[in-house]
Amino acid sequence: WTARDLAGIRILITAGPTREALDPVRFISNRSSGKMGYALAAAATAAGAEVTLVSGPVTLPVPAGVKHISVESAQDMYAATFQSIDNQDIFIGTAAVADYRPASVATQKMKKGQTDTDITLTLVRNPDILAAVAATQKVFTVGFAAETEHLLEHARQKLINKKINMIAANWVGVDRGFERDDNALTVLWSDGEIQLPYAPKATLAQQLIRVVIERYRQGNVE
Ligand code: C5P
Repeated sequence: WTARDLAGIRILITAGPTREALDPVRFISNRSSGKMGYALAAAATAAGAEVTLVSGPVTLPVPAGVKHISVESAQDMYAATFQSIDNQDIFIGTAAVADYRPASVATQKMKKGQTDTDITLTLVRNPDILAAVAATQKVFTVGFAAETEHLLEHARQKLINKKINMIAANWVGVDRGFERDDNALTVLWSDGEIQLPYAPKATLAQQLIRVVIERYRQGNVE
């Protein structure tokens, strides 16, 4: 690939975890490192694409040339995504968006009760950013399925339920996926799939961008 191969293609990528506040000092989150999304942003930019990265809190450097939008919660990520989605060609959702958020956020730090009684937290559903982007039918959509069991069945179901164009399935759990520098992916679309074997995330990102662009270009000429 040369630095011009993806010239003129605009890609929006979500990455990292989201944080769902309970009060000013506490939140619910997950173990996503953001590495896959940042590696995809770097690979796509290196190939000449114009990349916008909407990212939850991570400790990674922003790849040179990438437009970076920093967010915290799923609702922030949804808003930032829809502010930038017009005129994008491809959306890749790598973010580990929290499925639920606390029903209410305390304005002051929550205090322990006087007695030893437990408390119950009520959680409400967050919007599905990927499914909402797919519903606009204006961009080519790529999702990720991170699963600890029945990976390919769950991934193909997500492809259908979210009405997206492609899904990259990866195992997570002990010693795999999150927080790691390498990974393996199975990429699925309506009538095909490809296996990208275990490799550093930077290599995997380059390969995944190739597969995405190939499908995207086919979709646009058929
Ligand atoms: O349904 P599940 O969370 O497993 O789907 C994962 C895919 O959907 C990922 O691509 C993730 O970025 C995206 N997603 C999203 N918004 C949500 C939940 C998931 O964009 N609220």
